[in-house]
Amino acid sequence: MTSLTITPHANNFGARIEGLDLAAGLNADEVAELRAAWIDHQVIYLPNQPLQHDQLERFTRCFGEHGNDPYVKAIDGHQHILEVRREADEEVAPFGSGWHSDWSFQSEPPAATILHAKVVPPHGGDTLYADCFRAFEALDPGFAAELETLMTVHSARLPYSHEGYIKTGSDKRKGMKILPNDNAWDTQLHPLIRTHPESGRKALWVNPVYTIGIDAMQESEAQALLAKLFEHLLQPEFIYTHHWSADMLTMWDNRSALHCAQGGYDGYQRIMHRTTVAGTAPA
Ligand code: SIN
Repeated sequence: MTSLTITPHANNFGARIEGLDLAAGLNADEVAELRAAWIDHQVIYLPNQPLQHDQLERFTRCFGEHGNDPYVKAIDGHQHILEVRREADEEVAPFGSGWHSDWSFQSEPPAATILHAKVVPPHGGDTLYADCFRAFEALDPGFAAELETLMTVHSARLPYSHEGYIKTGSDKRKGMKILPNDNAWDTQLHPLIRTHPESGRKALWVNPVYTIGIDAMQESEAQALLAKLFEHLLQPEFIYTHHWSADMLTMWDNRSALHCAQGGYDGYQRIMHRTTVAGTAPA
């Protein structure tokens, strides 16, 4: 029995969690309950949790090893914490403002991402989440069975190759240092329909930032199918709009949700600290 209060959203996608003090640390029962809530609700958020860097790292390790976070310079002395920062006078689109599942181009992409709000603008700066479970479950069963035979091609090239770095304006970022690299041209195959390793639920697992093709399918056919799947997955009925407050910690499941950072706060600073939890190869 723990002191956790879990308030799920009406459709179960997303839940607010109260009754814990993350800075004080968690016991095994609390970690188990939080883990179950994260898998069940896909996006969980805990308001009013001021945390130092080492406390954020300790919270992250309650759920597994740190993930491998490339292409962005980490906080000095804390290689596992990225600062997602946009200055008040920044003109470039917010970091993460295309729909994606974090680092899906890796062979073992992170299971979780944890984002801790440090400076929140008075308006804008929401994060949108898309529910890959319900998007899969809403597909026509015959079409879904066909999709289950397909493998997709993922790559970091659009944002993180040298070419992508310039095209996306990352060379003009003020708040963050992006580190483009030729490795971004590498490709990784993943199943188009992914089975969640812990719950066994199936997810429509494609995203427009990193999914660049479909294995063994002609380019124009693959791009047409991907466009159709993105349109399906990003329908309003599958989206949750998350509003932030300072010191809120949010943790999402990259295996069952996509996310997308929003702008709308020009003239104000926004600062978040981000860690990831290592995952397994999608299957
Ligand atoms: C991210 O994609 O990790 C950033 C999300 C956000 O800043 O809202």
